[in-house]
Amino acid sequence: RYEKIWLTFGIAMLFVFLIVLGVGAFAQGMQPPGQQHSGHGARVTVNPETVESTAPFNQLGLRKIGENEYDAYMLAFAFGYGPEKMEVPLGATVHFHITSKDVVHGFQIPGTNVNMMVVPGEITNLTHTFTKAGELLVLCNEYCGVAHEMMHTRIIVK
Ligand code: CUA
Repeated sequence: RYEKIWLTFGIAMLFVFLIVLGVGAFAQGMQPPGQQHSGHGARVTVNPETVESTAPFNQLGLRKIGENEYDAYMLAFAFGYGPEKMEVPLGATVHFHITSKDVVHGFQIPGTNVNMMVVPGEITNLTHTFTKAGELLVLCNEYCGVAHEMMHTRIIVK
C-alpha cells in the first residue's frame, strides 16, 4: 500500500517539476536574454528619428508626479541636451528618462552618482534626489564627435 502511495506521490512530483520547467522555459521565451537591461528595468525602444515629435519626448523637462517628485524627459544630441537648462526644486526626487537623437552620448553630473550612457533607440532611466542648492553642470562623457567637449546642459537646484 505504501509503495502505491509513494508511486503516486512520485508521479505527482514529476508532473509538478515538468510544469515548473515548462513555465520557466515559456517565461524565458517571452523575454529573450538580449532584451533584458541591467538594473533599470525592461528596455523600451524609441525611434530616434521621430522621438522629438513623439510623447513623452515631445515635451521635454520636468513633470510633477508626486510630492516633490518629478519625471524628467530629456534628449541628448550632437552637441547638446534638451532642455537647455532645467530648474529642479531643492529636495526633489527626479526620475530621469533620457534618449539620444543620433549617436551614443553620456549624461554625467560631476559630484553626484548621476552617470548614464544615452543610446539612440533606447530610454535610459535613473533616479536622483537633489539635496543641495546650486547650479549643476551636466556633461557628455562619451566621445560623440567634433564638439563633444562642448556638449553640456545645466540643472539649477533651488
Ligand atoms: Cu555627446 Cu560627447
